[in-house]
Amino acid sequence: MDRKTFLKTAGAGAGYMLTPSVITSCVNDGISSSDLYQNPLQLPGGLDSDILQAAPSNLMIAGKYSLDGLRFNESLPGPTIRKRRGEHFQIQFQNDIGQESIIHWHGMIVPPEMDGHPKDVISDGSYSYDFQINQRAGTYWYHPHPHRITGPQVYRGLAGFFIVTDEEEEVLNLPSGEYELPLVIQDRKIDDSGNIYYDPSMPERMMTGYLGDHMLINGVPNPYHEVHPRTYRLRLINGSNARIYNIAFRSRTPFTVIGTDGGLLPQPVQTTELLLAPGERADILVDFSDGFSGNSAELVSKEFSVPSNGGMMGNMSQMMGGAGPEQGSEFPLMEFRINCDSSSSSTVDLPPQLSESNFPAEESAVRTRRIELDMEMMTGHTINGRLFEMLRVDEQINQGDTEIWEFINNSAVPHPMHIHAVQFKVLSRSGSRGLLPTETGWKDTVLVMPGERVRVIMTFSAEEGLYVFHCHNLEHEDAGMMANLEIV
Ligand code: C2O
Ligand code: CU
Ligand code: CU
Repeated sequence: MDRKTFLKTAGAGAGYMLTPSVITSCVNDGISSSDLYQNPLQLPGGLDSDILQAAPSNLMIAGKYSLDGLRFNESLPGPTIRKRRGEHFQIQFQNDIGQESIIHWHGMIVPPEMDGHPKDVISDGSYSYDFQINQRAGTYWYHPHPHRITGPQVYRGLAGFFIVTDEEEEVLNLPSGEYELPLVIQDRKIDDSGNIYYDPSMPERMMTGYLGDHMLINGVPNPYHEVHPRTYRLRLINGSNARIYNIAFRSRTPFTVIGTDGGLLPQPVQTTELLLAPGERADILVDFSDGFSGNSAELVSKEFSVPSNGGMMGNMSQMMGGAGPEQGSEFPLMEFRINCDSSSSSTVDLPPQLSESNFPAEESAVRTRRIELDMEMMTGHTINGRLFEMLRVDEQINQGDTEIWEFINNSAVPHPMHIHAVQFKVLSRSGSRGLLPTETGWKDTVLVMPGERVRVIMTFSAEEGLYVFHCHNLEHEDAGMMANLEIV
């Protein structure tokens, strides 16, 4: 075995250095510290067609688990779409899954008929998408959006990356190519005979959502990936139906958050852990040459607490959550095996300011809307006391207006709230949690824990028409925790 030492030289520039220069010893090239990580990570290929076909297929996952799956263009996750700001995006969605569906481009600001509103579902044939990409570079994603059956369709495999690039980001020279890893995290339930199944019980539907017992990254259970001792860019999507992750390394090694739902943060933020709720994205830089002992960097979901917000409902949701780790417990995600046999060691010299972010000023808001999130015994999870109705307009907004929305979670379970057609800035959160590093940037999904009030501000500049906002816990969404917003 080779024992090598890498000396990293610190740049003398005034820029923000990711990590201080240190000597890292690197041993045991390519050998895992644990036998949990047996499957190599897969990276989805790019989209090379003007058709996105959704079709069923029976799949073997990691050679041992069977999935009655659905895939876009025979790829799991779906093919990665990469576009530059200013470009046109044109695609035919071909629905061959045998049930209603429609595609939503999560985080993208597009005209209403391009947004995948559930009223636009097709049960077969195709739907044409054609829109201009006119927004910040960022990690967006696409997935189906039919009413009541989004959860099972995403769970069975329909989701992919939609990466937008632009000039502002390019000048930063962030790690790219093999040093940029898009990773979608999704938990799944697997029964004793190795079948991945979707079968939420009543309490799962009504309370926690569907929590899995196996953690899949890009469709592979607990994968490993070999990396060089240098800085990588990880584009993380929480594509799970209901599970929240607290992204961390087992060694508690710090990493740098550079972006979130709507692209780059104003400034990089260093942290050792980061909550990521369903629908949210985190763009992080990890320096594998520093702070990891041995050659293994284990990405885990670290323990976190979910406020109980009182009494019976809270206890019930804890007790009736079903199998799998409870929301908030610690479990492993994947392993990076640091291959010391490589000379590509290099650091990233980030400027103190990553991006220009003109967040709307609080005083510019013309109104504040209260969005109450409740759980009622007979109805389920409601938004302002109501369940989704396909064409009822719940919130009407004048185009161009800046508004503050205040999400108030009166229930006993977390709700990651997602608004279509905008990117917003989180203004404040009641209680002790404060704002996360990701919440210093543009967001389209925000986690509202039980008992919390979270205020967000945004300007509605999208085209006139009907869009939705909803909880991105997909069981909650499917059960009707969704509402229409109309821009007039
Ligand atoms: Cu990612 Cu309306 O959803
Ligand atoms: Cu969306
Ligand atoms: Cu919810």
